[in-house]
Amino acid sequence: MRQYVIAGNWKMNTVLSRAEELAQEIKQGISQSLHSGVSVVVFPPSVFIHPVAQHVQGTRIKVGAQNCSNEPYGAFTGEISTDMITSVGGEYTLIGHSERRVIYKESNEVVAAKVKHVLTTSLTPVLCIGETLQERQSGQTWTVLQQQLDAVYTQIDKTSAENIIIAYEPVWAIGTGVAATKVEAQEAHNFIRKYVGNYIDSTNTMILYGGSVTADNADQLLLQPDINGALIGGASLKAETFLSIIATANKLAG
Ligand code: 13P
Repeated sequence: MRQYVIAGNWKMNTVLSRAEELAQEIKQGISQSLHSGVSVVVFPPSVFIHPVAQHVQGTRIKVGAQNCSNEPYGAFTGEISTDMITSVGGEYTLIGHSERRVIYKESNEVVAAKVKHVLTTSLTPVLCIGETLQERQSGQTWTVLQQQLDAVYTQIDKTSAENIIIAYEPVWAIGTGVAATKVEAQEAHNFIRKYVGNYIDSTNTMILYGGSVTADNADQLLLQPDINGALIGGASLKAETFLSIIATANKLAG
């Protein structure tokens, strides 16, 4: 039996009414017979975690934050703590999304500090990694992925490291409509699994693919042996497409 995590990153989209509507649409459309191997998580903007979590309470849909602080609390204006996320019903948090790394200059060190802190809480971290187009074109893909993984895995102990979900999101595939091919994605996922194997037993590490995943390309990506799910941006903002990708995972898991 295969296991999948299908996750929707809403990024800085929706307003309260639309966030609630979208949560409701996903809740209503999700199969009553969702395979036990399929997990569904949505990452709304942080101000909507609470209402969205309330809408999906008691269902198979889980909620997470798009980012969090590496500090537990205190004078960090504008930041969001892990306790805050948990207290409003969040169970996951993305860390190191490429938009945080590229636009907000989050370094590997900052990302590592965040993962380290999150692993002391009940939240599950989804560590996002991936190379830029320029890095891929100049043959640095594997070095970049190694550096991003080393930064985190050298800082944490083996047992808690097993709780990390990894999302491979090549920056050139995000929001471009050009997804990695199934061959490119499988190659990178296999590399990541082997490399993480230097630190932990990575056989069961969940490695999600993100970057222009659609209802049309989801099945060929999810069929790859080292792809354990998808982190979906644009296509997760429409219940119909998000539900279609969940249905694909449901079919493949069964
Ligand atoms: P798109 O699916 O819009 O390419 O975004 C991917 C992403 O960044 C998910 O975190």
